Amino acid sequence: MRRILVTSALPYANGAIHLGHLFEHIQTDIWVRFQRMSGHECIYVCADDAHGTATMLLAEREGVTNEALIDRLRGEHAEDLRRFHISHDNYYSTHSPENEHYASLIYARLKERGYTFTADVAQLYDAERQLFLADRQVRGTCPRCGAEDQPGDNCDDCGATYDATELGEPRSALSDAKPELRRSEHYFVDLPQFAGFLREWTASGPIQPEVANKLAEWLNAGLQAWDISRDAPYFGFPIPDAEGKFFYVWMDAPIGYMASFKNLCDRTQGLDFDDFWHPDGSAEVHHFIGKDIVNFHCLFWPAVLEHAGFRTPTRVHVHGFITVDGVRMSKSRGTFINASTYLEHLDPEYLRYYFATKISARVDDVDINLADFVQRVNADLVGKVVNIASRCAGFIGKNFGGRLAAQIHNEELWNAISEARAPLAELYERGDMGRAVRDITALADQANRYIAEREPWKHVKDPARREEVHGVCSLGINVFRALVIYLKPILPAMAAKAEAFLQVEPLVWDDAAAPLLDHEIVRYKAVFTRMDPKAVDRVVAATRAEDNALASEADAATISIDDFLKVDLRVARVVAAERVEGADKLLQLTLDVGDHQRRVFSGIRSAYDPAQLVGRLTVLVANLAPRKMRFGTSEGMVLAAGPGGSDIFLVAPDTGAKPGMQVT
Ligand code: MSP
Ligand code: ZN
Repeated sequence: MRRILVTSALPYANGAIHLGHLFEHIQTDIWVRFQRMSGHECIYVCADDAHGTATMLLAEREGVTNEALIDRLRGEHAEDLRRFHISHDNYYSTHSPENEHYASLIYARLKERGYTFTADVAQLYDAERQLFLADRQVRGTCPRCGAEDQPGDNCDDCGATYDATELGEPRSALSDAKPELRRSEHYFVDLPQFAGFLREWTASGPIQPEVANKLAEWLNAGLQAWDISRDAPYFGFPIPDAEGKFFYVWMDAPIGYMASFKNLCDRTQGLDFDDFWHPDGSAEVHHFIGKDIVNFHCLFWPAVLEHAGFRTPTRVHVHGFITVDGVRMSKSRGTFINASTYLEHLDPEYLRYYFATKISARVDDVDINLADFVQRVNADLVGKVVNIASRCAGFIGKNFGGRLAAQIHNEELWNAISEARAPLAELYERGDMGRAVRDITALADQANRYIAEREPWKHVKDPARREEVHGVCSLGINVFRALVIYLKPILPAMAAKAEAFLQVEPLVWDDAAAPLLDHEIVRYKAVFTRMDPKAVDRVVAATRAEDNALASEADAATISIDDFLKVDLRVARVVAAERVEGADKLLQLTLDVGDHQRRVFSGIRSAYDPAQLVGRLTVLVANLAPRKMRFGTSEGMVLAAGPGGSDIFLVAPDTGAKPGMQVT
């Protein structure tokens, strides 16, 4: 038995789980379930990546604490992934005591062994918001092509990469202020010291050839020291003995894998942290990631682990990016689909199946197409695999008392199906799920041809051929069972329904070695239903609608008509007006609102002599919550216009409007 620890990259705690995340988690989960079915111990952990500037800014925008925000998102992420049958053993957070412990420990070891140093760095600073700006928080003119309003790391127009300090006319994306250059001390990991180790590690086979090539390119170009500190204010772990400095989010994020596992160990009998992380441990560690984060997982991470006294990953499985009809997912096209939106309209196993057909051990981008999605599920999975059961089950139930035949009717077909388990296992093991699904579909084709040629529906009434019909249909059910085994890592819920129909214990990989003979099954109920193409349209439409809602939310200058109608505006006549002792801007107004009087404090003393105001009409916000002030409670607010100073105007001399009359 192998002992295997598996991870998916930790989703950021600043947005919802979407198709891209799902592609990664589904791929990981299929591999994990395959290992478990094959009798190995396979632990799958993940977490939310909680730290960093983006989390902090989002919390600020939402007016909640960082902790409240990451708690909410962690709950939503865990729930979305659970509903897609992702079988994590733990879904934790990088903002945890375990993670702070290991981050500090690893940093201390690197420091003690001479792999860290500090240096002064000049960085753009937003004096208005009082924080250092990350590259992408600066915008300005591209130093190469002159395109305006480009982000501070690379130009969207010409693709040039540069330093944020090279931008022309730089602006803070947070406040629009002109940033200033400020110096501050930063902490570095001295990556160039690890170059030799990284060459060896790369060559020892833990990564796909394309990734190894990319790494070799980086190594040949020469590594640079890695800046692992950020200045306050920052949402992260404080660096020990470094006042006002925090670990950069990417320093503690991969350590989050360890922390999530440690947290699981602490509540699981017989699961020992060191078995999996000690350099001499015999267990395996596998990471599944997207190609955009290869540098963090194949340079920094193995080097940091090695030099801090932990084991390095057994394998890093890298996948490409999802595109839809050849282009990046986009909200406005309705293809940047969130997990929760999908789940409102479609069964998660449709997507698990379709993604499986697209997974390979290569790093290329993966193009999906929504029409193809419907086609693969309905034509292949339902039309070919599930069809075998629905064709054969009725005959067994009606004519043979629900009992499968005691012999295999056609050894050749059964052997072809049963012996596919070794090559299919090989494909799963190396991550070629798409090939596996194609081969499984071909086996289904073979079985369907066999059944069609024997025409059991024609012969079932013929007593002389009864036994043959029993044999053909029983073999059909056995083929179906084997295919369910082969698809179980992809379709666990369908497999559970098939197990109930077949009246068997949870199926494992080796169950495909022997058929079910002289065995009773129950009446067939559909284990999988066809997909409604209209439901896909609904998902796309719902995604577009989310985009529109977001766009109007982002336009903070507007409120909805409903918001406006909540404001109760009334005509009020000034009955009395007087100065307020100790407040040189305020007047205290007594207002007649028709059926009662109100006292309101208003900052208009610079514009009006109190006596002048008596008898005038103004507009009162009548349903404003009363506000306690130093001089008494203000029961509303009067509207005025003007640039200020002596030019502030309350509405009109008496026009005869009735006090208390609604204005809107
Ligand atoms: N928080 C970091 C990972 C830290 S791991 C120690 C991060 N988060 S992410 O939410 O942006 O992405 C999480 C994973 O989803 C990454 O592996 C990323 O490659 C993957 N994907 C995000 N969008 C994707 C697609 N459109 N297609 C496929 N995978 C993509 O990076
Ligand atoms: Zn440019």
